[in-house]
Amino acid sequence: MSAPRVVVIGCGNLSQRQHLPSLAQLQRMKRCVFAAVCDLNGDLAAAAAKKFGARAAYTDIDTMLREAKPDGVAVIVPVVATAAVAGAILRKGYPTILEKPPGHSAAACKSLIRSAQAGRAKHMVAFNRRFCPPLVQGRAEVLKRGAIKGASGLMYRNRRHDPDFWSTAIHSIDALRFLGGDVDRVIVDKRRLRGDQRHAFTLIFEYANGGVGTLNVRPEAGVSIERYEIFGAECVALVRSGVGWLIDQPGFCDLYECGKAVQLPDPFKPFARFPKALSDPVNGGFFGEEAAFVEALRTGKWSGPTVAESLASVEIALAMQAGRSWRRR
Ligand SMILES: NC(=O)c1ccc[n+]([C@@H]2O[C@H](COP(=O)([O-])OP(=O)(O)OC[C@H]3O[C@@H](n4cnc5c(N)ncnc54)[C@H](O)[C@@H]3O)[C@@H](O)[C@H]2O)c1
Repeated sequence: MSAPRVVVIGCGNLSQRQHLPSLAQLQRMKRCVFAAVCDLNGDLAAAAAKKFGARAAYTDIDTMLREAKPDGVAVIVPVVATAAVAGAILRKGYPTILEKPPGHSAAACKSLIRSAQAGRAKHMVAFNRRFCPPLVQGRAEVLKRGAIKGASGLMYRNRRHDPDFWSTAIHSIDALRFLGGDVDRVIVDKRRLRGDQRHAFTLIFEYANGGVGTLNVRPEAGVSIERYEIFGAECVALVRSGVGWLIDQPGFCDLYECGKAVQLPDPFKPFARFPKALSDPVNGGFFGEEAAFVEALRTGKWSGPTVAESLASVEIALAMQAGRSWRRR
């Protein structure tokens, strides 16, 4: 398929900032046809279509599917709506990319798995950190030098008082599964620190390959930062992730081997000629995940993760929120 027809369900905040600009760019690059957008709010859908070059705007999903005849569907709706909206799309068999978390509970995630099986639908969950250029670079550089011996991370935020921080923390949990490999066990410490309104969490990750790592999640740390460490054969990659609202822009990867710093190429070089408005989507991995989705539609080669592969991330994040440790069954 040379230029698959892609449609988007949900034109809210994240969609406007990250997904719609990415699809507009992929259409400019002639990688896809941006066939339509859909939102319950008709004005929002019409404005988004005009701004980002989608050929039509709808308020009803079934009408859009019938008329726009998509080859692939992106679902970017509120967390509580994901299981119902994406589930219906997957059951109809449409190749799909759906925003994280894949469902608002483990039961919702399992229902999405059943929907994908029923529709035999190819799909991927939009865990954008897996496409963040410095993270991709750090993982690849460590793997080049031998086996990975674990990965650690920290996720700090400023004044995040939302009660269910798990649906944000899942990003770093999934990133550590991407960087360090399958996880056997996670030990969780949950406590409220002096003066904070919400809990902070300290996690120890035991990887199936024998590696180990830690994750510090502090919603009220006073700064928005995500950093990762990938441990390998006499080497370590230290990654500062530059997702839009984080302080480390555009993101960096430092690599050290046998006591010395290794000079790495600029991970953003492939995007040097992109318009300035694409900086956030590129730095955060949002452009990368949409590009991977479009490439999968074109070639049939999917990078994942599927909803089934994401279930462990959902379970670990929910266990963290509950203050329970987690073990792979
Ligand atoms: N990857 C990240 O870093 C990141 C960051 C923020 C949000 N998210 C995820 O993005 C998703 C959307 O979050 P948001 O903040 O943009 O939400 P939002 O509320 O701003 O936007 C959601 C939009 O979906 C529309 N919608 C809901 N149900 C619909 C339906 N049945 N048909 C058509 N449109 C429908 C709403 O009208 C709204 O415009 C969530 O799943 C969230 O977890 C991811």
